[in-house]
Amino acid sequence: MKFFVDTADTAEIRDLAATGLLDGVTTNPSLIHKSGRQFLEVVKEICGIVDGPVSAEVVALDHETMMKEAEILRKIADNVCIKVPLTIDGLKTCKALTSDGTQVNVTLCFSANQALLAAKAGATFISPFVGRHDDNGFDGMQLIDDIRLIYDNYAFDTEILVASVRHSIHVLEAAKIGADVMTAPPAVIKSLFNHVLTEKGIAAFMADWAKTGQTIG
Ligand code: E4P
Repeated sequence: MKFFVDTADTAEIRDLAATGLLDGVTTNPSLIHKSGRQFLEVVKEICGIVDGPVSAEVVALDHETMMKEAEILRKIADNVCIKVPLTIDGLKTCKALTSDGTQVNVTLCFSANQALLAAKAGATFISPFVGRHDDNGFDGMQLIDDIRLIYDNYAFDTEILVASVRHSIHVLEAAKIGADVMTAPPAVIKSLFNHVLTEKGIAAFMADWAKTGQTIG
C-alpha cells in the first residue's frame, strides 16, 4: 500500500520523506489556504521533496478552464498529478489529460458509481473520502470495499486512493480491503509508528542493558 501525506506543510513533508516511507503528497485548496503560501510556489517545492505524485487541484468548474489550469500546473514538474472534481467537466478533463499521458487524481468521490465513471475516464487515482462519508452517516469503508470489487471485476488500472483518513483504523481497514494508496494528515501517519507495548518493551530492554554495564563497539 502506498502512503501519501495530505498536507501542503513542507516541513511536515520533509520530515516524513526522511523516513523513506512516503510515496506521494496530496493537496487541496483548503490545505493551500492553511499553508498561507502561494499555490504554484508551494507545489513546486513539494515536487522537489518527493519523487512520487503530488496532487495539485484545479479550481475551475468548466472543462475548458480546467484544461488551461491543468496546463499551468503540469508544467511545474514531471511528478505533478492533476486533481479534478468528480463532475462531468472534471471527468471530461480527466479523459483528455490521461489520454495525453498526464496523471490525474479524481477527487470528492462519494459513491461506487462515481468511482466506476472515473475509471472509465482513465483516472490514475480515484479519491473516495471515507472520513467525510462517515461524518454524514454513511459507511466509508463499505464504499472502499465496493470500489475494490468493481475495479477487480473489470481489471481497471485506476488506483484506489483512500482519502479523508481520520485515524489509524481507517488505514488498517483500507489495507485489509486492498486499497492501493491512502492519504492521511501527518499526525495520523506518525501515529501508525506508535504502540504502548513497543514503548514499554524499549524501556525494559534499556533498563536491563544498563545493568550489564556494556556498550556496543
Ligand atoms: C484528499 O486528497 C483530500 O485532500 C483530503 O483527504 C480531504 O480530507 P478531509 O476530509 O480531512 O478534508
